[in-house]
Amino acid sequence: MEKTFLMIKPDGVQRNLVGDIVGRLENKGFRIAGAKLMQVSEELAKTHYQEHEEKPFFGELVDFITSGPVFAMVLEGENAIDTARLIVGSTNPQQAAPGTIRGDYGLTVGKNIIHGSDSKESAEREISLFFDENEILDYKLSNSAWIY
Ligand code: PPS
Repeated sequence: MEKTFLMIKPDGVQRNLVGDIVGRLENKGFRIAGAKLMQVSEELAKTHYQEHEEKPFFGELVDFITSGPVFAMVLEGENAIDTARLIVGSTNPQQAAPGTIRGDYGLTVGKNIIHGSDSKESAEREISLFFDENEILDYKLSNSAWIY
């Protein structure tokens, strides 16, 4: 079973979209292994987005992600990284397909509601950046084989 990291960004939290977004992800079948509302520090923001350090929008990205609370999650499921990315939708919300989170709720480039890890390496890195080991819980939802 694969784990991925998702983070509802300050625009999603400010617009009261947390419940809807978490509901979509739960309905898909993911198991919530960890979740918390948190304020991202400048240091954490810069580390999280370090691969974009040279991009012209880096400062804007750091300012935005630290501008208010985010809702960070670790979700677990079969092929969780790629499947969650499909539900999240394309980076530019203007090009994201309707039915995806960004396609349904985003309009402005950069203010795209949610972040999702794009590879196994980034999922592992981002989970360990945002969560302590004891914040990630291993539990069963039911005995049904198709519910994780
Ligand atoms: S790139 O250039 O393709 O590597 O960048 P991309 O993967 O598209 O985006 C990386 C993250 O930067 C955010 N982004 C922006 N923020 C502010 N302003 C502008 N113009 C902008 N363009 C991209 C984008 O939402 C990505 O954030 P995450 O959290 O990974 O979705």
